[in-house]
Amino acid sequence: MSLYRLDGGNASCLVWAAKDQAARLIYFGKKLPTNVDLSAFPALAERAVPQNTLDQEVPLTLIPERALGFTGHPGLIGHRAGQDWLAAFVVAEVSQIENKISILQNSAHACLDLDLAISIDPLSGVLFVGAALTNKGDVGFELQWLAPALPLPVRAEKLVGFEGRWTREFRLSPRDFAPGIHLRESRRGRTSHDSFPGLIAGTSGLNWEEGEAWAFHLAWSGEHRVLAERLWDGTRQVQMGMLLHPGEVMIAPGQSLCVPGMYASYSDHGLNGIAQANQSYVRQQLAAQNLGPLRPRPILINTWEAVYFSHDQKKLFALAESAAALGIERFVLDDGWFKGRDSDEKALGDWYVDARKFPEGLTPLIDKVKSLGMEFGLWVEPEMVNPKSELAAAHPDWLLSHQGLKEPSGRNQHVLNLAHPDCFAYLFDRLDELLSNNDIAYLKWDHNRDLTQPGGLDGKASVKAQTENLYRLIDQLRAKHPKVEIESCASGGGRADWGILQRTLRIWTSDSNDPHERQRIQEGFSLFFPPEVMGAHIGPGHVHTSGRHVSLSFRVATALFGHLGVESDLTEWPEKERKALARAITLHKRLRPLLHGGTPWRLETNDPGLIVHGVVAPDRSQAVYAVVCTDSTREGVTPTVRCPGLDDAALYQVKLIGMPERLPYLNKKVPMALLGGMLKVPGAVLAQFGVNLPIIEPDGAILIELIRL
Ligand code: DGJ
Repeated sequence: MSLYRLDGGNASCLVWAAKDQAARLIYFGKKLPTNVDLSAFPALAERAVPQNTLDQEVPLTLIPERALGFTGHPGLIGHRAGQDWLAAFVVAEVSQIENKISILQNSAHACLDLDLAISIDPLSGVLFVGAALTNKGDVGFELQWLAPALPLPVRAEKLVGFEGRWTREFRLSPRDFAPGIHLRESRRGRTSHDSFPGLIAGTSGLNWEEGEAWAFHLAWSGEHRVLAERLWDGTRQVQMGMLLHPGEVMIAPGQSLCVPGMYASYSDHGLNGIAQANQSYVRQQLAAQNLGPLRPRPILINTWEAVYFSHDQKKLFALAESAAALGIERFVLDDGWFKGRDSDEKALGDWYVDARKFPEGLTPLIDKVKSLGMEFGLWVEPEMVNPKSELAAAHPDWLLSHQGLKEPSGRNQHVLNLAHPDCFAYLFDRLDELLSNNDIAYLKWDHNRDLTQPGGLDGKASVKAQTENLYRLIDQLRAKHPKVEIESCASGGGRADWGILQRTLRIWTSDSNDPHERQRIQEGFSLFFPPEVMGAHIGPGHVHTSGRHVSLSFRVATALFGHLGVESDLTEWPEKERKALARAITLHKRLRPLLHGGTPWRLETNDPGLIVHGVVAPDRSQAVYAVVCTDSTREGVTPTVRCPGLDDAALYQVKLIGMPERLPYLNKKVPMALLGGMLKVPGAVLAQFGVNLPIIEPDGAILIELIRL
């Protein structure tokens, strides 16, 4: 029998890989009973052949190909000087070891081998599909596209993709799965703010709580293409892969090319099941395997919105003191510390401490920070250079450019060519020296512009190489400085994906510290990332990126759920607000194990201005729910809020925490038993009926804590 089966979490996957046929993934969906007889496959999967088509069925194979009769988007596009552009792969070898299937397909016609690896994570059910192409011919093979195709059933009628921009990342973008191709691309040299490489397909009526859903993600921080195609015969496929430019990838004879892995997850209970599977996978596998067990995420202060480029030691000492006094655990010195960096117009690339601002180097500040019981972190943007810098003057040939074309600047800066060996060595040496000579626990690694003319030394397109060399640079630094934690930032969430997350412990989710914007940003983010990697800061009351004024309680209720930070000049905060912030920090520390280790839940509210989300402890002993209004509620009274995920039979004490500074005027009278923390309610009643809350003002939130008695 050529049927291979994988089971994990809530999902099963069936692969048909028979010798001399092309391999197919025939099922990925709800877990099938363990000992069920599957011998009816593949006969069961065979479909009718309509008139006026080819004489045999053309099923969707793992690498769909025109040569096999497939008329949709192919899984492989490439050629040898116009030849060998059709391959017609067939299976040569298959093996399964536990939860991993390895398939070797070859094409005698095109002299190519294709290795496919399919595995499932037993706990979360997240599926991994990898592919590598080997050139067995004696002429180079130019690759333009390689992406395994994952099938969707006809009942997948909806797509939920992502859209966004700077300060508005990860916004969900639902649509019908219409005939044709739904295509999203990044042509920006990085994962991008607007086209996160994630896509969810679902049954009609898919929402957070209901419906079947299949989610897909490409673990790659460079340019990508994400496509979902619906064909005339009902075939539905999803492909995700690297976007390759003309001539960018030439596989030399005997060489192989491995494409970034594609991941998939399945849910039979709406988007909640997707967030739960993906968060569990990142937490238990991706982060744990690559970065080791996470210690409690230190609450940090970041100097950016506190002082911007004005790095004055006295001021920074005062900021560190006020942060430590509130219980903050890490001090991150953002942009502005290096030679000549007084604005965003100059100095990028000159990674030497500015002696005007720090006459004795960073040591006095680091010592101060450490004496206050905090760790020290530093901002860098290694891939970039300002034309006004010593580096650009000395090495104009290190720029990533295309044969002398004049490139538009972005934030007054250009990109360095990481494939240039001397440039790579310089960056490694500068960062290595900084990390070796200073007690730095953390790097915030930024990337603030798109790549517009990414040409390599030979003039060929070099986006893939740039991304791979970035990975290599981080990997080499981590090998030498294994204790240093790295945050991925790209003007906020422009480089958030499971490729960079194999190397970094935090993602700067967005440059927006506005809780009004952040609520939706964090909603989208939560579908693929757990909260402990989600950088979330409490900023000033007047938000510089949106112009909005927001209350402290709303800022707290929003940032509390992520890897918490503060980004504001605390030395200027009134005592009353400092005390409230200290209480929030204490609360976060108490709830941190729950928030960063629990199961996420979100509710459908039927009200675009009302958001309800929470985290339930794995043993269901505790939960926190946030009820958030970003607008005035549609109904005159806050709807009764259900709290799912608890132990049905157990009794829970219901407490309101993190209340707004004052009860909104909108309330003439409020539910008193709830306010007094007197309510004791069974889990089943909380899940089915819920609790009644005070009326919440727009841009306000209430947090509910549930503790099993
Ligand atoms: C963009 C980042 O997203 C900000 O947080 C800050 O680090 C600035 N760059 C500094 O230039």
